[in-house]
Amino acid sequence: MLKIKGGNLLKGVIEVKGSKNASLALIVASLLNKGEVKLYNVPDILDVRRLLNILKHLNVNVNFKDNILILDSSKIEYKSLLIDEVKKIRASSYLMGAFLSLFNKVEIFNPGGCNFSNRPIDFHLNGFKEFGAIIQENENLIINLDNIKSGYYKIPKISVGTTINLLLFGALKDNLLIIDNVALEPEVEEVIDFLSLMGVEIIKIKERTLLIKGNKSLNKNVEYHVKNDRIEAASLALLGASIGDNLEIKGFNIYDNLYLLNIFLKLNVPFKLGGNSLTISKCVDFDGIELETNPYPLLPTDIQPLLSVFLSLGKSSSIIKENIYPKRNNYIKELNKLNYNLNVNNNLIIINNSNNLKGSHLVGEDLRGTFALLMGSLISDNTSYLKGKEYIERGYEDIFNRLRKIGANIEEISSY
Ligand code: EPZ
Repeated sequence: MLKIKGGNLLKGVIEVKGSKNASLALIVASLLNKGEVKLYNVPDILDVRRLLNILKHLNVNVNFKDNILILDSSKIEYKSLLIDEVKKIRASSYLMGAFLSLFNKVEIFNPGGCNFSNRPIDFHLNGFKEFGAIIQENENLIINLDNIKSGYYKIPKISVGTTINLLLFGALKDNLLIIDNVALEPEVEEVIDFLSLMGVEIIKIKERTLLIKGNKSLNKNVEYHVKNDRIEAASLALLGASIGDNLEIKGFNIYDNLYLLNIFLKLNVPFKLGGNSLTISKCVDFDGIELETNPYPLLPTDIQPLLSVFLSLGKSSSIIKENIYPKRNNYIKELNKLNYNLNVNNNLIIINNSNNLKGSHLVGEDLRGTFALLMGSLISDNTSYLKGKEYIERGYEDIFNRLRKIGANIEEISSY
């Protein structure tokens, strides 16, 4: 549990860490390589540690220190994936694509992830079927790929996970797979770059259409530098726009966050860009705005909870339409305990002006929602207690120490 004494301004310098969502995908992609893989700038977070535990279970040699991860999958063993760690992270769904690529079979339960939606994997499974996989669905999934067939699959709705999973699925097969309506999130681009570095041929036929020609033997030693986490960068920027005093965010992904910067410009948030840093201060008396979440390069769903907290400080109401995860609002009932004034109407988040904020006892339920509760508590001039810090630790490395260094009064009073 965290004890948070809000009201301080945040100043000084904070650095953005490596991308969680790119790292998780690249770690699974590394299984396909018989050569050594060295990944730089991997964040030391709970989700990465959990995924590495799964790799150790598969007899992969793992060496992770000071954000440098060295993996040797040359002795990887096929095992069923019916282990607890798999349930805890959504990214374990990528193991389906990797296993079908490596072993032509996989046994797994439906992967986990944040609990604001049922996180389906129907697009993933239909893609595998389109290219020849046979799937038995009972309480677990058993998938066999006796003979992959070249073909074409259009993903029904833009999906990061489906795009990445199908890239991994085709990586070791010397068939031609055409995947249409792919996601263009930066972490997808990183997987494409990484697989290409390993020797997989991936061609962009059109903006959202990929042709994959796998390579049966990937055995080069490769090194890759993971980009910084665009969602952590956006999280810190929204904190700065709420309670910053010339807060410098080093390693800020400008190009991956253009949409958010455009919102800051519209609201006259005081910020400046220099090199790869964003320096930002709290924004006072801005008017409300209407927004909606969409696939990249538009407004990312992952910052919707954090944006809702920031927009609460506006002079008039704002609305965010949540198009990706309509139920991504479980943080609101908790946030309103601090006297914020947010309402939900289907997939609309209505954000009314909040003043005379209070302190309270709050409980987090997912990664970004719990970060939003931390943010809401830091803005209020009162003391709050927040349960569920491990959700925040899933995606933000050593975040409480890093926030204390820029002035946040956060005490960890128990391990949960
Ligand atoms: C990834 O989740 C990220 N997770 C999420 O970040 C992020 O919110 C999401 O992409 C959207 O950008 C990781 O990268 C580990 P999707 P993913 O497939 O791949 C529906 C965070 O906070 N869908 O792009 O699971 C789905 O329900 C996490 O870091 C199906 O219907 O998301 C959603 O409405 C949260 N069937 C939409 O598509 C499927 O088979 C987009 O989901 C797959 C998805």
